Amino acid sequence: MDEDAFSTLTWLVEAGAGDAIGETPVNRLVSPPPAPTPMARPAAPPPRSAATAPAPPPDSDAIGSAQSAAASANDLAELKAALESYDGCALKRTATTTVFADGTPSCGILFIGEAPGRDEDRVGKPFVGRAGQLLDKMLLSIGLDRASNAYITNVINWRPPDNRDPSPEEAAQCLPFLRRHIELANPELIVLLGAVAARHVVGTSEGIMKSRGRWLEYRVGDRMVPLMPTLHPAYLLRQPAHKKLAWRDLQAIRARMETIGLPRIPMQANT
Ligand code: URA
Repeated sequence: MDEDAFSTLTWLVEAGAGDAIGETPVNRLVSPPPAPTPMARPAAPPPRSAATAPAPPPDSDAIGSAQSAAASANDLAELKAALESYDGCALKRTATTTVFADGTPSCGILFIGEAPGRDEDRVGKPFVGRAGQLLDKMLLSIGLDRASNAYITNVINWRPPDNRDPSPEEAAQCLPFLRRHIELANPELIVLLGAVAARHVVGTSEGIMKSRGRWLEYRVGDRMVPLMPTLHPAYLLRQPAHKKLAWRDLQAIRARMETIGLPRIPMQANT
């Protein structure tokens, strides 16, 4: 690629145009071919009334096959392979990679975010972009770090186009994998990052500003595991004034880690 083309591309990406919308480039500087005259157009089908429109195809097959694929996984490697071969979620078709998890699965504390963004889709790991950098700082502030004692995944395993909110159907297709993921990782403590995780994992209907900072419980096998929803790092980047609320939640999480006996990495000045 020549230098001009490269700098134009860089500029477009920085301006937020991160997605290709077609396979073939379009030269918008030449006039498009003339549109067909109205006479040449095939007659449009009559509009359908809501009563006659076919219902969207049922997704119970997609959810059912997610459930059986997830249930048949005996460990995290099998679950990752099952997810990678699952084709029931349309998000997979527009994503580059399947984003499974990052960190230390056996560490006892699991963080669950929403869905991969552009950077995560490229790298294939959760929380590697700006929000991920903030998450790493938040983890470090309570003696956690992915390489030693934190484990991270998302509700959704494929990037939704343009980072839109995942639909309830997409979440329902990914949730069997997440629920099995939680069983296999078998954490002692779960932290939900943001409203989407709170809605889909524990069915919170109130906003995250209400549910954050409150301890709930999640059943893993025959154990009830403490779970706390907190603010999503991407939200904190947009609303830095709310970092103090997240800080309070982190202190409560740190205290709970101590009660449970979860290890912390040796801390620097901010212990
Ligand atoms: N936001 C999320 O919720 N998850 C990621 O992996 C990245 C950003």
